Amino acid sequence: MATVLTLTGSASAPGSSRTARLVQHLGRELTAQGHQVHGLDVRTLPADALLAADTSHPAVADAVALVEGADALLVGTPVYKAAYSGVLKTFLDLLPQYALRGKSVLPLATGGSPAHVLAVDYALRPVLTSLGADVAQGWFVLDRHITAADDGTVSLTPDADAGLAPVVARWRDALAKPQRLAAA
Ligand SMILES: Cc1cc2nc3c(=O)[nH]c(=O)nc-3n(C[C@H](O)[C@H](O)[C@H](O)COP(=O)(O)O)c2cc1C
Repeated sequence: MATVLTLTGSASAPGSSRTARLVQHLGRELTAQGHQVHGLDVRTLPADALLAADTSHPAVADAVALVEGADALLVGTPVYKAAYSGVLKTFLDLLPQYALRGKSVLPLATGGSPAHVLAVDYALRPVLTSLGADVAQGWFVLDRHITAADDGTVSLTPDADAGLAPVVARWRDALAKPQRLAAA
């Protein structure tokens, strides 16, 4: 079983972020399947240290260590201005150049318009690739297709679930085979 980091980069408060709630939901599924899952919401890191790329700050150093220790990452971002969020980018920018080498990464985005469905592939994927990640097929979920209840449960419309579930399943199946991660 793999050590997985769920990394989210929404500017919304974690409790109201549909991106964070969706990623947490998928993280709970991974935990139920026996993976060791850690969560990191970039918004919770100190803003001054992030903006200064201060990797000596203990909270930032701990976050970088979570990346180093992960076999795989699920990276979730809202689409802002047709790309990933600046919040997420502040963290990715302070990682070492090949921080994601040998790690399987599933990119997910939530957005308000199907016009920006390709932000996953045209904006986020190249950044993850430049960090050395083995980037799996990603997915985009429309915000209005996500319902997050007060008790933490998340549901998707049937159409959204039919699109996302196979993408997550393919990535998850690869995690169940650690020898493939090691060979990557
Ligand atoms: C500043 C801002 C810019 C946005 N720009 C886009 C955009 O260019 N394309 C899009 O599809 N949605 C855009 N949205 C909508 C968000 O991507 C969408 O509502 C997302 O699910 C919000 O995620 P969150 O709940 O984690 O904040 C934007 C939202 C904000 C607040």
